[in-house]
Amino acid sequence: MMTTKLDSQYYIELEEKYGAHNYHPLPVVLSKGKGVYVWDVEGKRYLDFLSAYSAVNQGHCHPEIIETLVQQAQQLTLTSRAFYNNVLGEYEQFLTQLFGYDKLLPINTGVEAVETAIKLARKWGYLKKGIPEGKAQIIVCEQNFHGRTTTVISFSSDPTAKKGFAPYTPGFLSIPYNNIEALRKTLEEHHSTIAGFLVEPIQGEAGINVPDDGYLKAAYELCKQYNVLFIADEIQTGLGRTGKLLACDYENVKPDVLILGKALGGGVYPVSAVLANDDIMLCIQPGEHGSTFGGNPLACKIAITSVKVILNENLSENALKMGELFRNGLKEIQKKTNIISIVRGKGLLNAIVIDESKGKTAWDICLKFAENGLLAKPTHGNIIRLAPPLIISDEQIQESLEIIEKSILD
Ligand SMILES: Cc1ncc(COP(=O)(O)O)c(C=O)c1O
Repeated sequence: MMTTKLDSQYYIELEEKYGAHNYHPLPVVLSKGKGVYVWDVEGKRYLDFLSAYSAVNQGHCHPEIIETLVQQAQQLTLTSRAFYNNVLGEYEQFLTQLFGYDKLLPINTGVEAVETAIKLARKWGYLKKGIPEGKAQIIVCEQNFHGRTTTVISFSSDPTAKKGFAPYTPGFLSIPYNNIEALRKTLEEHHSTIAGFLVEPIQGEAGINVPDDGYLKAAYELCKQYNVLFIADEIQTGLGRTGKLLACDYENVKPDVLILGKALGGGVYPVSAVLANDDIMLCIQPGEHGSTFGGNPLACKIAITSVKVILNENLSENALKMGELFRNGLKEIQKKTNIISIVRGKGLLNAIVIDESKGKTAWDICLKFAENGLLAKPTHGNIIRLAPPLIISDEQIQESLEIIEKSILD
């Protein structure tokens, strides 16, 4: 019999043979996506509960975002920043007005935006705070995840991310997350050389660590007291994911430096950005930072539409409502089993912690989820992140809960 369609195994072997082994994917080969669903090459449909690590908040192949992509791709895609283009300014105006900042610095990936924020904080530290040259430090939190460059892994506490990649970049002080006393003590001791405090409002890769209410506000106020920049990495938590446009909005904290990425590109293009006011942003002068692709017209158009979709479709509100429904459902499932030790999250950024001593690993459970039509991936061993696109409906939440219950109780 002639088969024209190649099966999953073929594609998996191809990647294994020719691709670097820097990921360990679930054995599912996807070839199509629409809304909250993706399909594999055999035509099986899954609910996507990873959303490309929260980059697909608007749902797969959102028609308006795809339309924007196609339209702009036929006009102009890349100019470099050697010249002006007719989209970048419009994009910068839109996003700065939306978030209430003077300026935006456009870049591509999340980690590049984090690097940008680090450089900005150091430069501000020297020019504005008067830190002696070469002495600037940035406070970070244990169990952080801010990306994969050599500087960013230098302050990671994850041995897998870090080991074997020394020497590390100095200038970072790591303190426990969600511990305001640790921040106070570190600021008291080192404030004259500290330029910034870099924090995820909820630690995503660490397993959806939600800090205590009031932590971000108290941290922000301490930063003000010691003239230190409060730098929020909202790459994963931002743009509606947690039930508000920004997770910092829960505590009415306006970061001095705001870092966005992932869903800013609507799941179709890498777009990231750093926002700050003039006294900070203008510390960086021409030639001191940049990127060939940062601020290209295709990225800018896509980002405008991606954010408008979040606003126009009330996706933050939907994330809040659906998140409540989802966690309530998960807690009901938890009552029927001893496998789930914790259910936690905010909006549609959620996790279940698996008690692997009860005989099933988080990986086994994710395989079972896939068999039953839902895709999720363990993070940090025994934690499963559950973060669907924010367009998910009531019925689809119910569908997901049925799959999760069936897979866990099986
Ligand atoms: C909070 C946070 N910061 C930074 C990054 C890095 O983003 P990217 O993979 O686009 O470099 C991630 C990615 O997961 C993230 O969750």
